[in-house]
Amino acid sequence: MTILLSSAELEHFAKVGGLADISAALPIGWEKLGHEPIIVLPKYGCISESDSTTLIDMQIELTICSHTVHVYKTYIHNTLIPVYLLECDELYDRPGIYGNPDGYADNDLRFYVLCKAAFEIMIKLNISPDIISAHDYHTALLLPMLKLDYADHPLFSKTKGILTIHNAQYQGWYDNDRMHDISNWDFLNDPYESQFLFKKLFNALYAGIYFADAVVAVSPGYAKEILTVEFGEGLEEIFQQFQGKLHGILNGVNYDVWNPEMDEYITHHFTINDVEGKVKGRHQLITQLFPSSYNNESLPVFGIVSRFTSQKGFNILKGCIEHYLQEDSIRLVVLGSGDRSYEEYFTALHQRFPKSCSYTQGYNESLAHAILAYADFFLMPSAFEPCGLTQIYAMKYGTIPIVRHVGGLKDTVQAFDKDSKIGNGLVFRDFNAIALSESIENAILCYANQPLMNVLIKNSMKTNYPIAHTAEQYLVLFSNLCDHH
Ligand code: ADP
Ligand code: GLC
Repeated sequence: MTILLSSAELEHFAKVGGLADISAALPIGWEKLGHEPIIVLPKYGCISESDSTTLIDMQIELTICSHTVHVYKTYIHNTLIPVYLLECDELYDRPGIYGNPDGYADNDLRFYVLCKAAFEIMIKLNISPDIISAHDYHTALLLPMLKLDYADHPLFSKTKGILTIHNAQYQGWYDNDRMHDISNWDFLNDPYESQFLFKKLFNALYAGIYFADAVVAVSPGYAKEILTVEFGEGLEEIFQQFQGKLHGILNGVNYDVWNPEMDEYITHHFTINDVEGKVKGRHQLITQLFPSSYNNESLPVFGIVSRFTSQKGFNILKGCIEHYLQEDSIRLVVLGSGDRSYEEYFTALHQRFPKSCSYTQGYNESLAHAILAYADFFLMPSAFEPCGLTQIYAMKYGTIPIVRHVGGLKDTVQAFDKDSKIGNGLVFRDFNAIALSESIENAILCYANQPLMNVLIKNSMKTNYPIAHTAEQYLVLFSNLCDHH
């Protein structure tokens, strides 16, 4: 099958979070299974031109304006999977991807052009995709385009469109009149009648859900949760209405990258039978992050690598972590950036507890790998978590996840039972500091009991969620769609 995937993020090119990992891992999985993925991505300011060649120059004509786009061809890192990069400086040559925290005012246009260009590139190259794989609200517009603008085109008359929802919190609320001017979609003519409007705003995710042949949530747990008011982000009734085409497929991992035996970003490698490398790496991490006079290697190291948003549960962490730093019973190593309030919180925490808390602000690929690989525990007390990849990565390195029983976290981490010795992590249920601190206490106790800790480490390292399996589940869905219509 030929699968056109377009996403706002792609590993090695442009990344904020797990969307980038999966946008690269899925095509790699599909290609290994004999299929032909093609990626279309904006050439943001952070993407350099090296290794890419100009292929096509084209004009994207909209009713209100026209944009000249240069298309470069390059490849997903270490593969021959084509990535078409759209160069259109007035839209994409800016800092970052989304223009956070508020988002660029013309994100509607930026992502509309991305989607339209994806179709136009297929036409220029005379490629007929069997499947269009859209991801989150940014490329959800591929689906109304497929059904409304390109349905009669011979290259797309049989194409099926799938929307993967990585995070329903982000929906793309666009001004309806602007969207109408950009797209010329008739259904936007009457803002009072249009079913895609909430409070007169166009909702890109909703439009994607409506026009998709199938919708995939990134874990079975999240696929169920979004049907409820608690997790549906205001779209719960829409998810209920379209439940018949809603599927839950758990994300998978590219273990060629996230693998303690050959991770390119870490210096000391190890295996499930010989964790000497982890001990050395842990020593290196502590030495790197704490002044030498403060090195106390006997304390358990708790890691955090995260986008800083309220989703990630730092509000409940704030309610309990200081106690452990105060009594000097743990080391905390934090890497992340995002909401200013959390950045300030961790900066202040580090200043108060320089012996026991290190905070690195920003995005840092090698430190992320080092923390995931070498910490003893990995904290992920999320309020909600569509899938979560870092807890899955951490487990492969024997770094024990401490997670809340929610979304993809509950699908991937089973609470360790000290008697039966079954389970690969530590799990709590209620979203409050007391529940989280019970898990932290539990972690400290486990750490003090080396034989028990060794069993837990082995259990976690055995946990396996390979991308091949995820890719296969998508392919089954694709085949069913292609056969049945
Ligand atoms: P989310 O997509 O919600 O941010 P995931 O767990 O699915 O959460 O994926 C997060 C991805 O982003 C992982 O690959 C993680 O290593 C990476 N990441 C998050 N924050 C940072 C950071 N500050 N530096 C480097 N990598 C980060
Ligand atoms: C989103 C979710 C995260 C998920 C990732 C990849 O960013 O927040 O839970 O793992 O997408 O699907």
